[in-house]
Amino acid sequence: MGAKINKAAAGTANYVDERTGVGALVKFLSRKLFPDHWSFMLGEVALYSFVVLLLSGVFITAYFEPSMTFVTYDGPLETMQGVEMSKAFESTLHMSFEVPGGLLMRQIHHWAALMFTAAIVIHMARVFFTGAFRKPREINWLVGFTLMILSLAAGFTGYSLPDDVLSGNGLRIIDGVVKSIPILGSYISYWLFGGEFPGEILIPRLFTAHILLVPGLILALVALHLFLVFLHKHTQYPGGGRTHKNVVGLPLFPVYTAKAGGFFFVVFGIIAILAALFTINPVWNYGPYDPSPVSAGTQPDWYILFVDGALRLMPGWLGGFPLEWEIAGYTLSWNILVPAVIVPGIFFGILALYPWIEAWATGDRGEKHVLDRPRNAPTRTGIGVALISFYMILALEGSNDIIANLFHLSLNDLTWTFRIAIFVVPPLLFWITKRIALGLQRKDRELVLHGHETGRIVRHEHGEYIEVHEPLDEQELWLRVNYDNITPFEAPEEFNENGVRRGGMRWKRFKARLSRFYFEDRVEPVTPAEYAEAQHHHASYAASDEGLAEAEENADADKALDEGFAQLKKD
Ligand code: HEM
Repeated sequence: MGAKINKAAAGTANYVDERTGVGALVKFLSRKLFPDHWSFMLGEVALYSFVVLLLSGVFITAYFEPSMTFVTYDGPLETMQGVEMSKAFESTLHMSFEVPGGLLMRQIHHWAALMFTAAIVIHMARVFFTGAFRKPREINWLVGFTLMILSLAAGFTGYSLPDDVLSGNGLRIIDGVVKSIPILGSYISYWLFGGEFPGEILIPRLFTAHILLVPGLILALVALHLFLVFLHKHTQYPGGGRTHKNVVGLPLFPVYTAKAGGFFFVVFGIIAILAALFTINPVWNYGPYDPSPVSAGTQPDWYILFVDGALRLMPGWLGGFPLEWEIAGYTLSWNILVPAVIVPGIFFGILALYPWIEAWATGDRGEKHVLDRPRNAPTRTGIGVALISFYMILALEGSNDIIANLFHLSLNDLTWTFRIAIFVVPPLLFWITKRIALGLQRKDRELVLHGHETGRIVRHEHGEYIEVHEPLDEQELWLRVNYDNITPFEAPEEFNENGVRRGGMRWKRFKARLSRFYFEDRVEPVTPAEYAEAQHHHASYAASDEGLAEAEENADADKALDEGFAQLKKD
């Protein structure tokens, strides 16, 4: 049986190859090496949840009616009998209660969306904290960033489709945000909604964007993203023998093909279990959209929560001055513009351009294929933690009513706490994280120079007591010394040796300041000279019998480290 299957498979492959010549490409791709690390699976989770989104999306599209025409409900749901609603809402109820498997598919689709966005953000954090965005992957970072924005757009457009009271109010907020844009805002809002909000064309428009435009763009960009991963080769974590010029890993076929195939079903399975066990977006409890019944406890999906939180955080008045101005007949709403447009604009702008900002401060033009351990880039790690805390505070403020209710706190006190926290916590966490990273680097130096403590105390012939230290093995030594040692850029003197003023001094000084911010506090990796000195020191200990045996045992590891240093110097 097995032989028959093999023969049939070989025959089919031969048939296709003779007509397309694809065999050479398949051979090339299947031999491609990929490094291994659990964190590389995060991008895959995003990819597989997107596939689940497409599959479940096709199913529910068959039953959803993107229409804002009003009907009176007369389906099986008692609580909605006789209620006026749009066809979009009615078809969502129909799908949930009358189509076999419809509710499960809706739930699978929604849980997959939450998993997709979460996986993207965590994957992005992995890429950020390990410096995987450095040359030559800056463009792929930008492609990924666009995918992240598109995933927010996909989520938001989908969330709005059922036309329930929650999503309708979300759209109402977006309408307000758009209108806060000076001069253009009201025109953009009229254009989006085809007149005054909510109008009658919004759901069909959102539907087209949600099932065609946004997924089409995501598909195209995912293809480009993965092509670039292939082209650049995957990065690898530091370790024995890994340099910026090689790839240590396993071939795509059969190892990763088998793993990836299996992993898709694991992701699908987890989403299906979540969907089967945990209700999500029970729109029949909320009711159809109506602007009047907006209540406490209404939150958007997690990825949009920060906008809601930013709006709740912003006061309408500051020091007795209103933040809504009337200028030449136009209203300028700083209380909406700042939290919902300007701050997210700056936040996402920094994120999109981060690879270039850091490269500029570094001044390092080399390609980076070995990842940084977060501790070896203390400033970047601090920035990452500060950005995450900034987001978290906004998300918590977006749930301020729920927190206040749950913990019996005053909503106003909570809001004031978050108002202060947004200024205090991110810089504080930046500082703490950076100090922890520097501390860990110092510990690495200690370990490389003196080895691991063993708790074994030995007495020398002349009476001195020492603790025996166990040297690091080859892998660990590489891990702890193989990182870039970047010194801050220094601006040249303002005047050259002929007394002529150098051009672009302002930029150079700014660059020097930025570079100092990044690299002034740093712990340098152990140099070969320091290592030799430490060896020399240990040699005196080796004079004791116990030490001698130990030193012999460790000779191999020392040799490996020397080779490692030689290789690093060559790079
Ligand atoms: C639809 C969303 C996305 C999908 C499906 C996706 C998928 C993947 C996959 C499968 C990989 C290879 C495995 C890995 O390193 O995790 C990868 C690598 C990469 N991704 Fe994404 N990604 C997405 C979004 C993003 C975002 C938002 C960013 C950053 C802004 C990003 C930046 C990168 C970079 C720079 C690499 C190369 C990493 C390396 O070689 O170490 N991706 N992506």
